[in-house]
Amino acid sequence: MAPSPKPFDDLKLAHDVIWNELREGAAKPRNAFHWATLCYLDGFTPVPRTIVLRDIDRSAKRFEVHTDARSRKAAVLPRAKHASLSFYEPKKMLQVTVLGRVEILDPRGADTEAAWSRLTLSTKAIYANRIDPGTALLEPENTTVAVDDLTAEDLSRARANFRVLHLQADRLEALSLDGNHRRMIYDYGLAGQRRAAWIAP
Ligand SMILES: Cc1cc2nc3c(=O)[nH]c(=O)nc-3n(C[C@H](O)[C@H](O)[C@H](O)COP(=O)(O)O)c2cc1C
Repeated sequence: MAPSPKPFDDLKLAHDVIWNELREGAAKPRNAFHWATLCYLDGFTPVPRTIVLRDIDRSAKRFEVHTDARSRKAAVLPRAKHASLSFYEPKKMLQVTVLGRVEILDPRGADTEAAWSRLTLSTKAIYANRIDPGTALLEPENTTVAVDDLTAEDLSRARANFRVLHLQADRLEALSLDGNHRRMIYDYGLAGQRRAAWIAP
């Protein structure tokens, strides 16, 4: 019997392995793919930001991230329109980057409401800060509202600050350095224009 191919020796298998890793990343805070770097252009300046991968939809090629309406990225991304998310798993020496179009969902829409309802109270508290993120401080200050002190007013302010960001991937790139070095690219064009290819690492 022929030996089964190694995951990164087969483009289709590699694609499945990568999306399984991304699914694990979205679900598990201990998974390295739970923490990604969002990068976008603010004018001519590339801005990298660590974010939490909240959800993925493999069939839609969509990635969900949460943010505060008062952050710089929430103001710039609707204009920048494009962004990337980079993931790195050190034990597997696997790097995955998705590039695509970003959208900040309607804060009053059903999807934002559903995402909000799934958050724990301590995560909701992150959005209750009275001092806007990015505000200059004269000295270090605790700006977070403790969960135990959260009032109904804090919660409604937090909800108003909460935003859901979707990145719709047009392309996924991966590099595996565990064993044989393998680099792959997957273009998610319109139906019939999808492409998978090997690239020299
Ligand atoms: C471990 C970690 C996780 C983070 N997760 C998020 C996140 O999910 N969403 C977010 O908006 N900011 C997150 N941040 C903060 C951002 O990296 C960034 O500092 C902040 O959002 C301010 O960005 P701004 O320049 O857009 O105002 C995280 C930071 C760290 C260190």
